[in-house]
Amino acid sequence: MKSMKVNLDKRVASSYDICIGYDVLDRIGLLIAKHMPALHYIVITDVNVSAIYGMKLLGRLREMALPADMIEFPAGEDAKSIGTTVAIVERLIKLGADRKSALLALGGGVVGDVTGFIASTFMRSIPYIQIPTTLVAQVDSSIGGKTAIDLPEGKNLLGTFYQPKGVFIDVKFLDTLPEEEMNSGLAEAIKYGVIDSVEVFDFLERNIEAIKERDRDLLEEMIGNACRIKKGIVEIDEKEMGMRRVLNFGHTIGHAIEAESNFTISHGAAVSIGMVAAARISEGMHDFPRRDRERIEHLLESAGLSCRIPQTITTDGIMTRLRADKKKEGDRIHFVLLKKMGMPFINGGVPEAVLRETVEEMKK
Ligand code: NAD
Ligand code: GLY
Repeated sequence: MKSMKVNLDKRVASSYDICIGYDVLDRIGLLIAKHMPALHYIVITDVNVSAIYGMKLLGRLREMALPADMIEFPAGEDAKSIGTTVAIVERLIKLGADRKSALLALGGGVVGDVTGFIASTFMRSIPYIQIPTTLVAQVDSSIGGKTAIDLPEGKNLLGTFYQPKGVFIDVKFLDTLPEEEMNSGLAEAIKYGVIDSVEVFDFLERNIEAIKERDRDLLEEMIGNACRIKKGIVEIDEKEMGMRRVLNFGHTIGHAIEAESNFTISHGAAVSIGMVAAARISEGMHDFPRRDRERIEHLLESAGLSCRIPQTITTDGIMTRLRADKKKEGDRIHFVLLKKMGMPFINGGVPEAVLRETVEEMKK
């Protein structure tokens, strides 16, 4: 098992390890006991993950004589809600959880975000560990301590920054992950190459077919690259005061498209379209090389992701969503754009006419 440390400012949060391996669930019990001693462990998971891995993890903890229980909730973004949060907290109280208890988030980004949010607020905070089971969670959401739930008014509107005590990644979880969910994670993995590392981008270009075939060594390398890049950014800017914003590359237009499609377009597919839009705006406004924009589009397509905006989504709808974006300051919508491959920057505002033109162009 490989590991790396997320080194955080000790006054704000403690540092923690990210451990990555294949078929390591049996060892995760030991790691949990070492990294987060507690009197009572509660696994929080969704029904899909529970059916495949829930009892396996619970059994492993109990074999080690660690007192453990499990709470499951419905799968999917709709469950990232106040209702789910309150239901889980009520179950925690019934199970006798207190400040000496700790939570284990076993699942994708939804489970991780909800569990982290509850851990940061239950009895004024208890520790938690991330055990991510989707590619999105393994390359992105389990690292960096962003927690959130959705409100009817919008996604991630209630949340905290609250770091886990550890992130334990078993690449074998991906064996059962549906292809569309894999593609979502690939969009995020490609994002790291584009915003941070030409070497990582080249690696993905060279290996995308074998990665799609789920070659375990290449998956492990890709996930390791992603974790290394994300942790480096979080170490510099834990609370997203500046540099961490580059992780939102592709997400501004991506979120607008995701919401405009009523979430029928997956997060990864929407981020893929958003990254293409950002690369095109960068090409038009900041001389980002056309050849590199084409490479990004080609790699996303090879990963099974979309580069075009479906006709059913209106330009006006996207523009309205962009104006309401929470990353807006005054009437300027901040965009992460590119100077070169691996060199992002925050643009202080893209003119509305440029946005409209880019969206229209991508609908052809
Ligand atoms: P998800 O958690 O909804 O999981 C996707 C689906 O895969 C679910 O149906 C789940 O039950 C299933 N699943 C999970 N693991 C599986 C496995 N190993 N085998 C089979 N099925 C499995 O979605 P996601 O894409 O992992 O996460 C999306 C969420 O993450 C969004 O809410 C997003 O806002 C959030 N997110 C948070 C951050 C952050 O920094 N906190 C970053 C990115 C995304
Ligand atoms: N996924 C964006 C972030 O963690 O900041």
